[in-house]
Amino acid sequence: MRHARLKVRHRRLVNVSRKQTPPASFRPLLIATTNPGKVREALAILAGLPAILTTLDKHPELPQPIEDADNFMDNARIKALHYARLTNLWTLADDSGLEVDALGGRPGVRSSRYAGERCDPSANNARLISELSGVPLEKRTARFCCAIALARESSVLAVASGILEGVIIDEPRGTEGFGYDPHFLVPETGLTSAEMPPEQKNSLSHRGRALRAIKPDIIRLLEQAQ
Ligand code: IMP
Repeated sequence: MRHARLKVRHRRLVNVSRKQTPPASFRPLLIATTNPGKVREALAILAGLPAILTTLDKHPELPQPIEDADNFMDNARIKALHYARLTNLWTLADDSGLEVDALGGRPGVRSSRYAGERCDPSANNARLISELSGVPLEKRTARFCCAIALARESSVLAVASGILEGVIIDEPRGTEGFGYDPHFLVPETGLTSAEMPPEQKNSLSHRGRALRAIKPDIIRLLEQAQ
């Protein structure tokens, strides 16, 4: 029974349909996150990659890296190299966050811990909205940023980044997504990123853009390595 359940769970991460066995040439590619929102976005966008996708949920024993860089790209590189060295797998890692112009770019690389080490999204949102109190809508411009790095052994093989522009609104709207999504309005859609169906968010989001930008490089590198 346990074996059957594990098999089903593994199949969900394998990038082929249930009836197919992945070609022997497919190698594992670790998506270095346990965040379910990020996992969903990555699996949807990386569908069709000639690899067997796996996530950090399967490696709970691994220590976390110290992401102490002051920018998203260097943190993505740190994370990708850390897990590539520990697992010996091709590893894709991202670092992302919210930059708010009226706050001088904060929370930035501190986005997940903005209200403390508990990484509590409600507390982070409460701090953000309280700091923007009195700031008019036209000055609440912000962007989600994402940097992605692909590493193998001790080398970073490819990087990409993406952004999504928006404004921060006081009242949360929507139940999709995660983190700051309910307060992040994308003006041209009239929706917050928590009101968008996943396909719409994937098509616009900073992470979707970065993943789509790096995908051809991953395919090329995997094919070269076969
Ligand atoms: P990371 O896991 O270190 O990349 O931290 C990302 C943090 O930035 C998350 O915990 C969220 O607070 C915020 N963030 C990044 N991307 C998104 C998004 O798509 N929606 C909402 N919040 C996001």
